[in-house]
Amino acid sequence: MKDVKKYQQAEKLKKWRDETQPIPWYHDGLENLSNRLHPLKQVLRVTDIQPLSRDTKLYRLVSARADQPLAPFRAGQYVGITVEINGVRTTRPYSLVSSPNQLAYYELGIRKKEGGFVSTYIFNELKVGDIIEATEPLGTLYYNPLFHGKELVFVAGGCGVTPFISLLRYISEKALDLKVWLIFGCVTEEDILFREELEDIASRRDNINVHYILSEPGPEWKGDCGFITEEIISSKIGSIGKKYFYIVGNRAMHEFIKKELENLGVPQHRIKFEAFGVPDDITQIIGWPSTLDHSSRVKIRVHYFKSGMKTEKTFEAPCTEPLLNSLEREMRSELQLRSACRSGECAFCRTKLISGKVFTPPQVVIREVDQAIGFIHPCISYPLSDLELDLTMG
Ligand SMILES: Cc1cc2nc3c(=O)[nH]c(=O)nc-3n(C[C@H](O)[C@H](O)[C@H](O)COP(=O)(O)OP(=O)(O)OC[C@H]3O[C@@H](n4cnc5c(N)ncnc54)[C@H](O)[C@@H]3O)c2cc1C
Ligand code: FES
Repeated sequence: MKDVKKYQQAEKLKKWRDETQPIPWYHDGLENLSNRLHPLKQVLRVTDIQPLSRDTKLYRLVSARADQPLAPFRAGQYVGITVEINGVRTTRPYSLVSSPNQLAYYELGIRKKEGGFVSTYIFNELKVGDIIEATEPLGTLYYNPLFHGKELVFVAGGCGVTPFISLLRYISEKALDLKVWLIFGCVTEEDILFREELEDIASRRDNINVHYILSEPGPEWKGDCGFITEEIISSKIGSIGKKYFYIVGNRAMHEFIKKELENLGVPQHRIKFEAFGVPDDITQIIGWPSTLDHSSRVKIRVHYFKSGMKTEKTFEAPCTEPLLNSLEREMRSELQLRSACRSGECAFCRTKLISGKVFTPPQVVIREVDQAIGFIHPCISYPLSDLELDLTMG
């Protein structure tokens, strides 16, 4: 009886609140805007596929839902693309190459990585008409006029040029008052992606300069050869002044360019870096415990919900594979793990580590609050000992 009275009182209070404090007039508008900007997921249809080089293709995607237009983005951002391969559901980030000035479609330039899990699947299997899932646009590699100034240097390695294509399209279309240099390192001439378009933009815009450097040029190549060194950089851009540097490529390239920029006297706060994926060989990364047997396998015990009931599972995983890859392979349809950047940045995959030790590359910055309460980012964590994880908090 007491409970019924309490319930009646609560109902009365709710009715009174609804009458005296109605939902603000702007509520629906803000809610709609927020959903438009940050959809939980986007469902996309592939409408066109074009080859860009021997191992890279351009994919054009539109929204597959009439009631959900594509989310707007800033040039330089990426989306997490989720696919299911042999029962393993997984996500990889791909930079948007299309211009944010139009939202009729997104474009992605995806390179087939040798032995790559998702990129090989996309390259070989994805066809026009297929439906795929994507996250909202994410990432911080966009132009910020407050901090980046008016002179920008884009340094790209191989497929790392993709976010710069979007940025250059945006800057050129908007005729922004910026001076830009793209220094684009490739293996051979065949690997220069979007060459025609880059040359077209550079020929139409005096403020945009494009330079290629080939590490393995053919005999007919007349341009620069080798790596992107401090000499190459200063010969193209002149003095460092207040220029702001964006570097996109693999981690080895980043380490190399970072040192070259240090030699040129570029302060750290004027460099932005985006790593394209996890290190190819984690055992070569500074800080990796040299005494650890690289072929070690560890036991991973996970607690998670299955059909609403708390349950647990133990499996073995190699210490040289990102923990998230092992989790996705072992948990399959039993559990859907969220991820987007796969490089420790977005925090989508944050997971509570109950016990054990993991290795995270030193360049990866995990939020202090996550570290303090024992959360790890399994996309960029490697198990160094047996682990116990709590996946019931996701
Ligand atoms: C911000 C950002 C933007 C990027 N933009 C681009 C872009 O524009 N274009 C581009 O081409 N790349 C881009 N990348 C890189 C891209 O996200 C992938 O890292 C790349 O495509 C390689 O992924 P992969 O799955 O093919 O290879 P890997 O993830 O390196 O897979 C290697 C091996 O791991 C194993 N494996 C991995 N996951 C699993 C699993 N879940 N289950 C079973 N086995 C598994 C497989 O044995 C496979 O052979 C970007 C990366 C970042 C961080
Ligand atoms: S997926 Fe972004 S931090 Fe792990």
